[in-house]
Amino acid sequence: MDTSRMFEFPVKEFFKQPRSLFGAGAYEQAGPEAAALGLKHVLFVTSGLKGTGIVDECKTNFENAGVSVTVYDKVESNPKDYNVMDTYQMFTENECDGFVSIGGGSSHDTAKTAKVVAAHDGRNVNEFQGLNQSEKLETPPLIAINTTVGTGAETTPAVVVTDLSSEKAPHKWVGFDGAFTSTLAINDPVLCMTQPPEFVAFTGFDTLAHGSEAYVGRVQHLSCTPLALKSVEMVQRHLRDATYNTNNYEAMEGMCWAQYMAAQAFSSALLGILHSLSHAVCAYYDIHHGLNNGVGIARVWTFNQPAAPEKFADIARAMGEDTSGLSPIQASDKAIDAVIRLARDCGIPDNFSEVNPNYVKSQMGRGPFYENRPAKIESDDEELEAMAQHMMEDLCTPGNPRELTQEAAKEILRDCVYDPMMRKTSDGYRQSIWGMDPRMARQIGQQAGG
Ligand SMILES: [Fe+2]
Repeated sequence: MDTSRMFEFPVKEFFKQPRSLFGAGAYEQAGPEAAALGLKHVLFVTSGLKGTGIVDECKTNFENAGVSVTVYDKVESNPKDYNVMDTYQMFTENECDGFVSIGGGSSHDTAKTAKVVAAHDGRNVNEFQGLNQSEKLETPPLIAINTTVGTGAETTPAVVVTDLSSEKAPHKWVGFDGAFTSTLAINDPVLCMTQPPEFVAFTGFDTLAHGSEAYVGRVQHLSCTPLALKSVEMVQRHLRDATYNTNNYEAMEGMCWAQYMAAQAFSSALLGILHSLSHAVCAYYDIHHGLNNGVGIARVWTFNQPAAPEKFADIARAMGEDTSGLSPIQASDKAIDAVIRLARDCGIPDNFSEVNPNYVKSQMGRGPFYENRPAKIESDDEELEAMAQHMMEDLCTPGNPRELTQEAAKEILRDCVYDPMMRKTSDGYRQSIWGMDPRMARQIGQQAGG
């Protein structure tokens, strides 16, 4: 039966979740858990987490449990295809029998994809983009020890990898596949307290992106929507405290719950164009995924608002706004006001052109493409068009509540690069419906009495 013309996402998929440990001291169980899995020699996959001592402490923990360790500590932010293939090579050369990722989404995604590459005897990682592309669900075990309050990558079946080697490069692709899922996910708020404040803010906005996109998206997976909305409420309650006092255990624990629940939600409810936007900008300017989401979130909520006003009204209430006596449209305005206030409070820049060029430069990956990139983000029309095309092809785009056109994508991107962060009327994005300049659309609307 072809139901695709009747329903959007007529068949929901329930992606599996790994076993998980959560709480203060959970990371100390990683070594004994590896031994219980029968592992003898694991590969740590990490960016190094320099200055925290976490990697050395974990190494001792594993060795005390009788599990020897080799360390790959060259994972980059927005992991690149070469990071994954280097990890696979090190895993093979050292005859390891399991992976342990330590860090945030970049480390987990590198290990998740490397184990799938290992299961396929070294096939190129870029072959696994898209939905359920793995041919083998059996992979080497992976213990994912999380240290951030954002991606939820330790528990999700999703990966994001930047392709810098194929003809599509630069291309930041998404994969969803049960084969990527870790064997054991560990969340310990104490580890998250080692993050610098700006990373708490950035990763917190990734959590907010996951929760809100899973809640308003087209999939409408009823086992996920309560979790998604709860995660939004918890980000609102805890992100400011966690950002400005990273030693506040209660706030960090709240953010850990938020990030975990948001990740569980989007694992099956999928995402939307905020992630498509973030992937596109990251492909061209290798900056933090959560920072991208922080800059883009108010714009994308504004674009999506007319397609889902009741759901944005729910988000407004989850963010503590008083919506009594308001229509869903009026209440949904309050969600956008609340998220702009949260972004400002947490130091998210108004737009991409305000992102510190030194920060952009320091984030750039290696290789010819990034070596020639400008450090200040001032995309010209051609680059906006290319990023808009990237958004249209993203795996997250079909889940968005409002249909995206390439013109609308470009307009949202231009807004993110140059405009102040503010709630606009949906007139600002009318071009996407009528295919004309928004000012002209407004004039026509006024002439028609609209
Ligand atoms: Fe994300």
